[in-house]
Amino acid sequence: MKKITIIGATGHIGLPLSILFANKGFKVIGYDINSDNVKKANKGIMLFKEDNGLAEFKKARKKNNLYFIDKPSDEMKNGDFLITVGTPVDEFMNPDLNQLKKCINSILPYLNSKSLIILRSTVFPGTSEWLKSYLLKKKIKAEVAFCLERVVQGKTFEEIKNLPQIVAATSQNAKKKAANIFKHISKKIIFSDLKEAEFSKLFSNAFRYIQFAISNEFFMIANSAGLNFEKIRKITTDGYPRAGGMPSAGFAAGPCLFKDTMQLMASNQNNFNLGINSMLVNEGLVLYLIKKLSTDYNLSEKNVGILGMAFKSECDDIRSSLSYKLKNNLNRLCKNVFCSDPYVTEDKSLYDLNYTIKNSDIIIIGAPHKIYKKLNFKNKKVIDIWGMTNIENSKI
Ligand SMILES: NC(=O)c1ccc[n+]([C@@H]2O[C@H](COP(=O)([O-])OP(=O)(O)OC[C@H]3O[C@@H](n4cnc5c(N)ncnc54)[C@H](O)[C@@H]3O)[C@@H](O)[C@H]2O)c1
Repeated sequence: MKKITIIGATGHIGLPLSILFANKGFKVIGYDINSDNVKKANKGIMLFKEDNGLAEFKKARKKNNLYFIDKPSDEMKNGDFLITVGTPVDEFMNPDLNQLKKCINSILPYLNSKSLIILRSTVFPGTSEWLKSYLLKKKIKAEVAFCLERVVQGKTFEEIKNLPQIVAATSQNAKKKAANIFKHISKKIIFSDLKEAEFSKLFSNAFRYIQFAISNEFFMIANSAGLNFEKIRKITTDGYPRAGGMPSAGFAAGPCLFKDTMQLMASNQNNFNLGINSMLVNEGLVLYLIKKLSTDYNLSEKNVGILGMAFKSECDDIRSSLSYKLKNNLNRLCKNVFCSDPYVTEDKSLYDLNYTIKNSDIIIIGAPHKIYKKLNFKNKKVIDIWGMTNIENSKI
């Protein structure tokens, strides 16, 4: 039985991967420093919302080849390693490799020249080669591969089997080894060089972030002209493939798009005009909305409700969610701000949906969860940039 240690195994990327590999017959050791989550994972608790996640987790647990630990152990020896720890940017918008360094240092005693370390975290270009030389300095001749994660959060089990897996590594042998691992969960393997693969991931996320920024800027232009962007987008894209990829406007945030756009910018000595301007537009959309509300209403007399605190629809993850930027700003200006989300469990300050609607004069959709489509807002003012409740609500 192939053995793999997944590091960051209770995280959003690590847990689904641990389950997937266990279901394919690997012996999976899930290592994560978050002891509470390790305990929960060992009880079979699915830690966050993933379509079909609990069913897949149950299946994996029945195989008895998956368990979680919060400290490195000898069990890890003579197996491969897959790293999924966070790779944020720091206060200077530069890559912060602290989590990565700490996790590598913690597994050093369990590595040898036969070990393969697969980086799954999204990394700053050059990190895979840095890791190889870092290990060499520690007299460990382990191989390093970079195999990027491309699934959309929440849809791992549905998407992963159909997405080609890009595989890059420090040697041909390591590429082959990594491909042999990923062929169990991916339909197609695409081989690449390390830096090309690292850039590919950053380009993908920055591309998406820029696409959202285009629509968000169009939204603000249309809205300032007194027009409804969503209506314009609908007639523009209807039967017209060249505009087909134009997304609706809306809050573009979350744990990856912003920070990976910033990583890409940092990798090019801060020369990434589209990236930085996309950040200003996407983050600025919230400020535009607040400015418009302050002009139209005396907010100090208004109760405002925000529906949807997750960073995107059908998701329970609030990391870098712009709904919180909206909430924090409105808190300074409004009589009261009530927030609600049917999926978010970690924020105890949230209100029940009906309470939020009942007690708010103005309701803002913060994340377009499908359940909001059919709500009765009882003639209250609804602001819904996506236009999912009613297309008229997307003009603010
Ligand atoms: N979330 C996504 O949709 C997504 C998609 C593609 C790529 N990525 C990338 O994957 C990486 C992880 O993202 P995530 O959303 O899963 O983050 P996460 O915070 O949900 O998970 C990271 C996990 O690593 C653990 N960890 C941190 N330091 C550790 C250490 N020293 N040893 C062991 N465990 C440690 C944390 O406790 C946490 O559980 C990032 O590089 C991210 O950019 C994320």
